[in-house]
Amino acid sequence: MKIVVLVGAPGAGKGTQAKLLTEDGYTHVSTGDMFRAAVSESSELGAKVRGFMDAGALVPDELVIEVVASALKQLPKDTRLLLDGFPRTSPQAHALAEVAEAIGATVDALFIEVPIDALIERLSGRRVCEACGQTYHVRYNAPPATGECSACGKGPIVQRRDDQEETVRKRLEVYEAQRNALQAFYESRGSLLMVNGVGEVDAVAARIKQLL
Ligand code: AP5
Repeated sequence: MKIVVLVGAPGAGKGTQAKLLTEDGYTHVSTGDMFRAAVSESSELGAKVRGFMDAGALVPDELVIEVVASALKQLPKDTRLLLDGFPRTSPQAHALAEVAEAIGATVDALFIEVPIDALIERLSGRRVCEACGQTYHVRYNAPPATGECSACGKGPIVQRRDDQEETVRKRLEVYEAQRNALQAFYESRGSLLMVNGVGEVDAVAARIKQLL
């Protein structure tokens, strides 16, 4: 298995780029999407993670590691995987390295770099389909005026609960606090890739494809 970890601040475009790369045969696994689905299904996992997400805080490492390790072990051995939003801390990075070794997978980390002003503009304008998770942006990729999602035909198209200004600020702080340790971890293993995430979505995608 080949694992590419997508690292980037909230709004850097991890989910947007991962969805595009699925067209090239990658499988996309997002811890944020998994947790949001659990919250909307009101499952036991959802009840455990909801408070952390609403506060813009990280879900505890043990819980995230358990969820991801179990998901990885169920994937076919020839999967090319984009892991979006995991790892986010050093303990998570070490845990992923252990699981990868156990299942014979390689891990590269792709950091998507975007300056703070652009991140805030992207997050404040983001809208998502509540039914399928399709992402829009009021300025760069406006949702259909009918209110129906162009991907699944359903909706509604809403603002994410954690995209409120106060929560966004907290999420950005949390990312900054972990970023350097994660970068150092992958740099020391010779598996760090960096990409400039500014510009049109397709231009960023082309840069990423050149690196992968
Ligand atoms: P998660 O869902 O992973 O959120 P995040 O990391 O904050 O990232 P986002 O989804 O906000 O941004 P993105 O980089 O995917 O950007 P997107 O492509 O949507 O996690 C949510 C929460 O879950 C966390 O806060 C935490 O509580 C918990 N959690 C998840 N994983 C965890 C873990 N490992 N450990 C602990 N807790 C965890 O793009 C953003 C917007 O910009 C969109 O509107 C898009 O259309 C637009 N856009 C994208 N690219 C461009 C471009 N090039 N130009 C213009 N606009 C663009």
